[in-house]
Amino acid sequence: MSNEGENNGRRRFLLASTSVLGAVGAVGAAVPFVASWNPSAKAKAAGAPAKADISKLEPGQQMIVEWRGKPVWIVRRTEESLANLDKLNDTLADPNSEKPQQPDYIPKTAQRSLKPEIMVMTGICTHLGCSPTYRPEVGAEDLGGADWLGGFFCPCHGSKFDLSGRVYAGVPAPTNLVIPPHSYESDNVIVIGIDPEGTA
Ligand code: FES
Repeated sequence: MSNEGENNGRRRFLLASTSVLGAVGAVGAAVPFVASWNPSAKAKAAGAPAKADISKLEPGQQMIVEWRGKPVWIVRRTEESLANLDKLNDTLADPNSEKPQQPDYIPKTAQRSLKPEIMVMTGICTHLGCSPTYRPEVGAEDLGGADWLGGFFCPCHGSKFDLSGRVYAGVPAPTNLVIPPHSYESDNVIVIGIDPEGTA
């Protein structure tokens, strides 16, 4: 992507982030949100890894860290949402992650994650780079009612993704959301930008 393209993408991301924060503020505790912006501008410039402490991330919550100028989402999925993932396979464009959007050490399962409940993905729509909105509410009327089992909605052109970042069929986005390289430093600390030992 050109610098100008990156800048445009960055602007879109900032605008989208602002609106997400505003929207979350409006619904209050219904969609708990933990924001943790990391690391410093200096570290970002160097492409340094970003650490995320997930010890306070409750089931159903999303937190966001910044890595290399992009938002990385971390979601602690509920038991219910994990059970729902397999039900969505027929409505998704690439349910088995055949297109390379994730490191080799991430299983190409419905969960797409190192730990079942913890999902890590880059929060940039694979269509034109907006940042989708976290919409975990099962049955959301504006997203298909009973067919919506929670996920992410991109307001720019209507793309939908499930809680594993798998893209729905028939939307503008062509591929699943990207999963960045990451590993666990400890049970509750994820390091974005570092592969698990022995996998690189
Ligand atoms: S940028 Fe997300 S649908 Fe177009």
